[in-house]
Amino acid sequence: MNYDIADPSRAEEGARRVAWAGRRMEVIASVRERFRKERPLEGHVIAACLHVTAETANLMLALRDGGAEPILAASNPLSTQDDVAAALVAEGISVFAIRGEDSDTYYKHIHAVLDHAPAVTMDDGADLATILHTERRDLEVIGSTEETTTGVIRLRAMAADGTLRVPVVAVNDSATKHLFDNHYGTGQSSLDGIIRASNILLAGQNVVVVGYGDCGRGVAARADGMGARVIVVEVDPIRALEAAMEGFRVLTADEAAAEGDVFITVTGNKHVLRPRHFDRMKDGVILANAGHFDIEIDLDSLGRSATERRSVRENLEEYVMEDGRRILVAAEGRLVNLGAAEGHPADVMDMSFTNQALAAEWLIRNEGHLEPQIYTLPEEIDREVASIKLRRLGGGLEELTADQVEYLASWTEGTA
Ligand SMILES: NC(=O)c1ccc[n+]([C@@H]2O[C@H](COP(=O)([O-])OP(=O)(O)OC[C@H]3O[C@@H](n4cnc5c(N)ncnc54)[C@H](O)[C@@H]3O)[C@@H](O)[C@H]2O)c1
Repeated sequence: MNYDIADPSRAEEGARRVAWAGRRMEVIASVRERFRKERPLEGHVIAACLHVTAETANLMLALRDGGAEPILAASNPLSTQDDVAAALVAEGISVFAIRGEDSDTYYKHIHAVLDHAPAVTMDDGADLATILHTERRDLEVIGSTEETTTGVIRLRAMAADGTLRVPVVAVNDSATKHLFDNHYGTGQSSLDGIIRASNILLAGQNVVVVGYGDCGRGVAARADGMGARVIVVEVDPIRALEAAMEGFRVLTADEAAAEGDVFITVTGNKHVLRPRHFDRMKDGVILANAGHFDIEIDLDSLGRSATERRSVRENLEEYVMEDGRRILVAAEGRLVNLGAAEGHPADVMDMSFTNQALAAEWLIRNEGHLEPQIYTLPEEIDREVASIKLRRLGGGLEELTADQVEYLASWTEGTA
């Protein structure tokens, strides 16, 4: 086994956190139990490029118990939990990830997992898939899975221009992923990241949420619940209207720039906050990003116009502008929930990663029968994942009567 991690001696500390997360991941635990008996992934190398967190470790262990040889690299240079990486290595799983690694090391690690000639690749942001379609076209895989909105957008673009050469399961498109992970996970953990980085009170602050998609609406709802005055910036009129009807002020980015105290970008787009907005901002504003890549805030331009740049707290950097205003940036503009906090809580990653494990199984079971296109997992899988999670939360599920089933399928019964 080979690996490249920060400190193997932290394995015990990491194992405790992996076990703690595992206690709240009952759905994947039930899949893991079945995997142990059926071994559906036997003999297959699965290369994963995911955030190296305690929750991901539970996915890696489930894949291993299913017979696979999982290999893990980080999907973001700042999200790796070094103790968790050590715990996985102690379990015999190869990990190539060091928190804070530079860009060269990040890509060296991605190539290291691909060097294991995987049967399946598992991505969060499509970095493995991109390299499979560029520098490593020599590698043949059964298929790939993709965790996040931004990755799915990139892969759909590849499918649209005919570049895609492998079947891909868009895990993000499963209802039990994006409706829960993106909304409740990002909603809570992004604010957690901003609070850990700054220790500010959100109540009474003008919090600007840029992007009101699955993630943005979660962030807005949670900020509202904590007493912030939420302002939404959107380019889509329907989503903007939804935000307005939810009771939020909806402004242009220019207007919001002048009013916000805290800004959270979560669009999957580039430079949604840029010099024209920085110019209008108040002294002491905090900028954070929860979208996949660190390009939502134009930090290069901010850096160029700043006269001074200094760290004020862990994960919080201050840019001093020529006119003396200070603009603070959390977690280097990278995913704030993973850079400054611990990512999504295990409760929600349970569902996302169950979908990942089942997607790998589905690709392997359907080897040779799939086209190079984007697939969504069958709806029964989504419903099963939701049912198990609901049971674990103590919820009961009503069943349709035979009469109701017939009524819903017919058109003859109308106004009595
Ligand atoms: N932080 C995390 O842990 C986490 C979790 C899930 C997804 N993500 C990432 O968050 C991003 C958003 O994901 P999502 O599922 O909410 O996507 P989404 O497509 O549902 O929502 C994005 C929204 O941003 C809007 N938008 C685009 N450009 C804009 C602009 N210039 N100004 C204002 N609004 C703009 C779009 O109209 C859309 O409504 C993606 O990059 C995704 O990969 C992060």
